[in-house]
Amino acid sequence: MNGAIPETIAFDIYGTLIDTHGLIAMLQCHAGDNASRFSQLWRQKQLEYSFRRGVMRQYRDFGVCTAQALHYACLSFGVSLTENETSSLLNAYRALPIFEDVTEGLGNAKDAGFRLYAFSNGKAADIIQLLDHADISRYFIDIISVDEVQSFKPDPLVYRHFLEQAAAKAENAWMVSANPFDVIGAVSAGMKSAWVQRSPDVIMDPWEIVPTAVIQHLSGLAVAITGWRKA
Ligand code: LAC
Repeated sequence: MNGAIPETIAFDIYGTLIDTHGLIAMLQCHAGDNASRFSQLWRQKQLEYSFRRGVMRQYRDFGVCTAQALHYACLSFGVSLTENETSSLLNAYRALPIFEDVTEGLGNAKDAGFRLYAFSNGKAADIIQLLDHADISRYFIDIISVDEVQSFKPDPLVYRHFLEQAAAKAENAWMVSANPFDVIGAVSAGMKSAWVQRSPDVIMDPWEIVPTAVIQHLSGLAVAITGWRKA
C-alpha cells in the first residue's frame, strides 16, 4: 500500500472476468463447425463498433454494439436467426460464465484491502446481471459504466469518469484488464494497469505505452500490486 491510501482497482468485465466465448455450444446449433470463428468475429466487431461509435460521437449503448455485431457475424457466416433465436443469444450474453480464476482473484484482492470496482463498457444493468449470475457481486463497492458519460474505452474521458466516481487518484488506481486496448488506455490516462495475459497467444500491442504489471491469472493480482508498490 502507498501510505494510508488504499489502492483502488477497476476490473474490466468482458474478456477479463467474463468469458465472451462462453456461448460456443449455443452457437454450434447455428454456425456448426464455424462456431468458434463466429464467436471471435462477434466479439471483434462488438469492440470495433464501440471504438468507431466513440470516435464518431455516435453513442449507442454496448448492448446495441453487441446486437449489431451479432447481426454482422450472421451476415458474414450466412447464418439466419429468428427473432426468438436472436433474443435467446442476447439474453445468454447477460449470463456468460466467469473464468475459473476470478473468485479466488477477487477474494485475494479484497482481503489485501484494495477497493474493488467493476468498470465496463457494458450498461450497469447488464453488468449487475452478469455479476449476480456468477455470484461475485459481493466483492465490488460499485459498478461504474461508460454509459454514464456516453463514450467507450479507450476514450480518456471514461477513465477520468471512473476516477471521479470511485473518488480515487490516478496514481493509486489500477485498471485490471485482459484487453490490451484497455490497459493502454488506462495507462495513457495516468492510471496503473495490470494486464491479464490469459494465453501466451494473446499479444500486447507493441506501443510505447506498456502495462505496469503482467499476470497470467487473477489469483496473482494482489501479490503483483503489492510487490510493485514495494519495489
Ligand atoms: C468491457 C469491455 C472492454 O467490459 O470488454 O469494458
